[in-house]
Amino acid sequence: MLRFVTAGESHGQALIAWISGLPAGVPVDLDFIQREMHRRQLGYGRGARQRIEKDTADILSGVRHGKTIGAPIAVRIENRDWKNWEKALPVEDSEGAEDAQRKLTAPRPGHADLPGALKYNLHDARYILERASARETAARVAAGAFAKLYLREFGVKVLSHSIAVGHVRLERDATWAEIEAICENLESPLRCVDSATEALMKAEVEQVLRAGDSVGGIFEVVARGVPAGLGTHVQWDEKLDAKIARAVMSIQAAKAVEFGSGVANATSHGSQVQDEIVYDAAKKRFEHTSNRAGGLEGGITNGGDIVVRGYLKPISTLRRALQSADLNTKEVVKAAYERSDVCVVPAGGVIGEAMVAMELATAFVEKFGGDSLEETRRNFDGYQKQLDDF
Ligand SMILES: Cc1cc2nc3c(=O)[nH]c(=O)nc-3n(C[C@H](O)[C@H](O)[C@H](O)COP(=O)(O)O)c2cc1C
Repeated sequence: MLRFVTAGESHGQALIAWISGLPAGVPVDLDFIQREMHRRQLGYGRGARQRIEKDTADILSGVRHGKTIGAPIAVRIENRDWKNWEKALPVEDSEGAEDAQRKLTAPRPGHADLPGALKYNLHDARYILERASARETAARVAAGAFAKLYLREFGVKVLSHSIAVGHVRLERDATWAEIEAICENLESPLRCVDSATEALMKAEVEQVLRAGDSVGGIFEVVARGVPAGLGTHVQWDEKLDAKIARAVMSIQAAKAVEFGSGVANATSHGSQVQDEIVYDAAKKRFEHTSNRAGGLEGGITNGGDIVVRGYLKPISTLRRALQSADLNTKEVVKAAYERSDVCVVPAGGVIGEAMVAMELATAFVEKFGGDSLEETRRNFDGYQKQLDDF
């Protein structure tokens, strides 16, 4: 079974990703992993933190001579900002260092600050926000990079692009070539495939920056090359669409997840929504003439592109702070302001790629198994033959 977990606080020493269950023999392209880490940091509207951090994935275990060895992989990502927080967040008991603690007692609406403080019985939301922060997603992207490297061996590629920032929306479908190009382009401010729409998106971010406000938006993750037959319809908690939805929904600020044109489909008629089936004799594969389902039917991949959209709410921390109530005095106060991003849609897409890649890789490991990549490949090739001969 493929699994991953993360550890680390936003301003602690480091973040950790722990990945277990990849077979031995997967080639590990270190440059690719570092590039993924860098991509997560990009985007117009990010805060000052991205200028402090230069994320590097430091692989501690599970990889030798450029290949996985089947053992758990541990990755460490240093927090450069730690040097400014050592006194505030020491591991050892530090009685009397109250000033350095940077307590947060005015919980920010839209954050885990208040429910977390209540749940953990803390009159300081600092420890809650340290872990709830989306800085944690650096570790997810490191783990996702391993999932992508594994999927790459079977011809699967997972990419993303931005389809809405605030009120500005891309009003057409993007081609695969456009999505590939925008993922290669590290200079693009908002990773939208249409430059005129991207300019409007940038203006939207500039507007909220000036106003002390924030924006959300929609990213779309597309996975190409996924074979039909991953996931299953037999049990509710084994359906792959459900697993992917959970994974994308777990991204900080994600409030809705959509497959294909799922939202518009709900208010259309069946004849306008279902994807008709054809057989391509040359490829020896059944296909659909459209992909409104987003590549999954009944919780099983159908051989089409997996298309998943993550809807991000506007960033919660506002320079023009909203009303809050102090955790100790209970009096009306302005919510705390911590240095903050105002738009994270492009980064959300990169994190979305990591989460989708991890779910697809997990489904691959479940279906094709294998302790070594060679064994997995034998099983995969056998299944391809089954589809050829169907
Ligand atoms: C890449 C990324 C960066 C984020 N940066 C910030 C930020 O700088 N300030 C902020 O208030 N929220 C930020 N968020 C969102 C919060 O982490 C999130 O809204 C909060 O933890 C509450 O979780 P929830 O919105 O999922 O309920 C970011 C989210 C993502 C995906």
